[in-house]
Amino acid sequence: MNEAELIAQIDGVIFAEKDLKQKLAELCRILNNFNPDFSWVGFYIMNHQQRLLHLGPYWGNDTEHRLIPFGRGICGQVADSGESYIAENVAEESNYIACNVDVKSEIVIPIFHGETLVAQLDIDSNVVNAFGEEEVSILNRVCDKINHHLSEGMHYAKFFG
Ligand code: SME
Repeated sequence: MNEAELIAQIDGVIFAEKDLKQKLAELCRILNNFNPDFSWVGFYIMNHQQRLLHLGPYWGNDTEHRLIPFGRGICGQVADSGESYIAENVAEESNYIACNVDVKSEIVIPIFHGETLVAQLDIDSNVVNAFGEEEVSILNRVCDKINHHLSEGMHYAKFFG
């Protein structure tokens, strides 16, 4: 699948008549399928009141990290900074939560509704340095679409309420 085909599939899901949780789960599956180096793809939803990240839809193995405090791990750091983070080699990270021993690199991209950080897209890879310029550019394009079309429903109270 090339980038144009990926975007066409993503648009197909975004604009379908479906429940938001189902759409996000499908986006995870499509992204996971897009790149064989992506081993786990999921969304964490920000609970600002309790300063906790709450696991949302994902594609890949179950994870015990369903709740992550702000500040802990890569995701928790992005909760505080609001900026994307790429761990090229998780073995070199001092603040990292392992979901699976096979994971070698990870990217976390914040999802915004307007100015508000509402969620994060988290992707693991079993390959070191899986998130190069090309991957990052495609993932940013996908996240821009999520920001524009889906993020309104991703506020914690709406999503889990
Ligand atoms: N590795 C992440 C935790 C989430 S799992 O990868 C699904 C972190 O360090 O925040």
